[in-house]
Amino acid sequence: MPDDWPARPLRWPPQPLTDGVVVLDRMTRRDLPTLVGAIDDHILRWLPLPSPYTHVDAIAFLEWQQEMADRGVTLNFAVRTEAGGPLVGSAGLHFRNGPRVAEVGYWITAPARGRGLAARAMRLLAGLAFDHYDARRLEALILPDNTASRRAAERAGAVYEGVRRHGLEARGEPFDAAVYSLLPSDLRTPMKTDAGYL
Ligand SMILES: CC(C)(COP(=O)(O)OP(=O)(O)OC[C@H]1O[C@@H](n2cnc3c(N)ncnc32)[C@H](O)[C@@H]1OP(=O)(O)O)[C@@H](O)C(=O)NCCC(=O)NCCS
Repeated sequence: MPDDWPARPLRWPPQPLTDGVVVLDRMTRRDLPTLVGAIDDHILRWLPLPSPYTHVDAIAFLEWQQEMADRGVTLNFAVRTEAGGPLVGSAGLHFRNGPRVAEVGYWITAPARGRGLAARAMRLLAGLAFDHYDARRLEALILPDNTASRRAAERAGAVYEGVRRHGLEARGEPFDAAVYSLLPSDLRTPMKTDAGYL
């Protein structure tokens, strides 16, 4: 197992990642007001973020993204629907689950939900993980009753593998995780169009 995989520091690609609908690039201070307003009850239900979520928390999140990139642990992106446009979400690649295994995490702002954007972000990050970081597998670890996230993972083409008992930790507590995975071969199948999102 390569101890130094992926090589540190992680760096954001020079150009935004895009599939023509979703644009992923670096979050900046210009995103702070949107970020503060974005963390609603739906996100707080599923992610262990500070509540109420303040400007100070948003600044800390920006600093955390830089620090995690420097340490080679997480490369987090702003989700947008146009280059230079407003933030509509956050999506990141985490490298902590073993050699050549990347994990994805995401949230989408309320007005942008229900349009398949999380699935698109997940596929873009999968491509980055496979092509640039030579990952063999991308995982999404989801609280089993988080239906919206499970649907997003399925929409991205990820395969449900079962429940990993105490596979997640939040605020120091263990939780079961529904495990979804994408392999490089899964990206050859187009994203599901069943909801007419494409
Ligand atoms: C999970 C999440 C990122 C999905 O993002 P998204 O881009 O809206 O995903 P989709 O458009 O594929 O919709 C997924 C499901 O969300 C639900 N949904 C649809 N519109 C919605 C809306 N306006 N508001 C909330 N949920 C909605 C539906 O169940 C949908 O599944 P369906 O299309 O099969 O009915 C988003 O709900 C979110 O930010 N959740 C809070 C944070 C979170 O749970 N992150 C993941 C942790 S593992």
